[in-house]
Amino acid sequence: MIKLSKRLEEIVKLIPKGNTVADIGTDHALIACYIAKENISPKVIAADLNEGPLKFAQEQVKAYLVEDKVTARLGDGLSVLSPGEVDTVIIAGMGGSTMRTILEEKPEVVKSLKHMILQPHVGAEALRRWASENGWKIVEEQLVEEEGFYYEIMSLEQGKMEIDDDILYFLGPKLVETKHPLLIPSLDSLLESEKGILSQLANSTNIKAKERADNIKNKWQNVKRVLGWPAELKM
Ligand SMILES: C[S@@+](CC[C@H](N)C(=O)[O-])C[C@H]1O[C@@H](n2cnc3c(N)ncnc32)[C@H](O)[C@@H]1O
Repeated sequence: MIKLSKRLEEIVKLIPKGNTVADIGTDHALIACYIAKENISPKVIAADLNEGPLKFAQEQVKAYLVEDKVTARLGDGLSVLSPGEVDTVIIAGMGGSTMRTILEEKPEVVKSLKHMILQPHVGAEALRRWASENGWKIVEEQLVEEEGFYYEIMSLEQGKMEIDDDILYFLGPKLVETKHPLLIPSLDSLLESEKGILSQLANSTNIKAKERADNIKNKWQNVKRVLGWPAELKM
């Protein structure tokens, strides 16, 4: 059996059994090979923009003996797919703004999908806003910790997303609703690093620096309003 990291394992758990899948930015192709091998998906397209990662993906597909189910394709984002070709698209391990660009560039492919799994390394908030503005709703969210880093994973279906408080785009509506056990630890880690940013910004007289500091402080006040945490918020 292929051994997956915790992050990849959580991504795989969100794939509906029987769905055809495209893994965009596949690199090592571990997701593609695993879901083919475990009969989670009957057909998988493993795609990458760059030749090096695609070659690696092709080697993995051969090594894991899944050439009958997994096809490797070279290309930018969703340009490798025609509308209706797969049920689920996975985009993982890139920044949220790159993912947003990938989704915005091929609206006809996005509209034809049943399901998406997005795992941005940063910028999850921008993706949640994109989803809400483009007729997608988050049906499940997961958080995973690996070597001190926290990864947000979202599973989306077409439909209207009701978000009644702006701060939920930052926090993750399902992470708040389910009181995910890693939500506070992940926020704690971010708060510590943003306290460092605030102390650097405090030394600047620049108006933009003051605006940025105010935005950070407002955000944490809103987190406290919704979660009642952190009880002590001195900033
Ligand atoms: C850090 S790896 C992530 C690999 C895997 N998805 C994961 O989560 O472990 C990012 C991969 O995305 C690819 N990539 C970046 N931009 C892309 C784009 N616009 N379209 C397709 N692949 C892209 C890179 O070449 C790289 O192989």
